[in-house]
Amino acid sequence: MDTIKLEEQVSTMTQFRKDILTGLQASPKFMQAKYFYDHQGDLLFQQIMKMDEYYLTNAEMDIFSNQSGDIADLIASENSPFDLIELGAGDATKSIHLLKELSQRKLEFSYLPIDISANVIRHLEEVLPKQLPGLDIKGLNGDYFKMLDKGISLSNRRKVVLFMGANIGNMDVEEANAFCSTLNAYLSKGDMLIIGFDLKKNPKQILAAYNDAQGITAAFNLNLLHRINRELGGDFNLQSFEHYACYDPDSGACKSYLISKKEQVVHLDEETAISFAAHEPIYMEISQKYSLPEIEAMARVTGFVGKHLFFDANKYFVDAVWIVD
Ligand code: AVJ
Repeated sequence: MDTIKLEEQVSTMTQFRKDILTGLQASPKFMQAKYFYDHQGDLLFQQIMKMDEYYLTNAEMDIFSNQSGDIADLIASENSPFDLIELGAGDATKSIHLLKELSQRKLEFSYLPIDISANVIRHLEEVLPKQLPGLDIKGLNGDYFKMLDKGISLSNRRKVVLFMGANIGNMDVEEANAFCSTLNAYLSKGDMLIIGFDLKKNPKQILAAYNDAQGITAAFNLNLLHRINRELGGDFNLQSFEHYACYDPDSGACKSYLISKKEQVVHLDEETAISFAAHEPIYMEISQKYSLPEIEAMARVTGFVGKHLFFDANKYFVDAVWIVD
């Protein structure tokens, strides 16, 4: 936070307030998952990634730690310099395997990680060149598409875009299609997208990942109420709301809610009162799961052709390689 200008902090604040108000005044009520990730939310998400039930991180790590050589070969088969742009790079613990393979092949490329967190970008720019001497890295801190626009304008090289971690799952299918179409419009024919999807599988296994026995996912959801109390002056009583997750094996939508345990009124500030009926839900997040035909169809309707699928050993997860048509 320290490097973010005060006026930016204030405008982020007002947008947060606006979005929370819009969601709480809507029917049915909802919140946006992107607001989970304050400092405490980041820590809770790190705990989620270490849980036994949360198979996603291990599955994608399996792909990148064992098959980055093959992914690098695929990228290198188009024999020209490129920019590797990563959307939501985080700590890059998975993509570092690919960066290593690309560096070993002495390919001419720049790594452009994009992240909404200034801390994340500063950390990557400091740490990665030590681990991978000679790596040409330029971090871009900000909104995905704003930074993509900036990143793309930096060179005329072909682009390889990484969008990992099943972050596409935080959009419903319609939003995901729109997102991929927009991404396609930023890119040029022949450019590559490597995109991670969590696959449809045993519904019980999926539900357990979002309804863990220790209650970490519950704490992750409730933390947003805590954040609203702290940053927006709310008076949510966290004891009066309960985490509820459900998975629809038909649509592939895994949704989480916070359910009001009783009839109650919550205040955001002196002027704003929000009424809850007993058992009224706040829709917090979607984690959309896909089948292989659905992934193939998404590529086609958003202007890509599927080139290759990289699976983990259990076939829980896939990193799909798509080419701009
Ligand atoms: C970061 C969107 C991939 O949906 O699996 C994990 C977020 N929420 N547990 C997911 C999340 C609850 C996660 N993504």
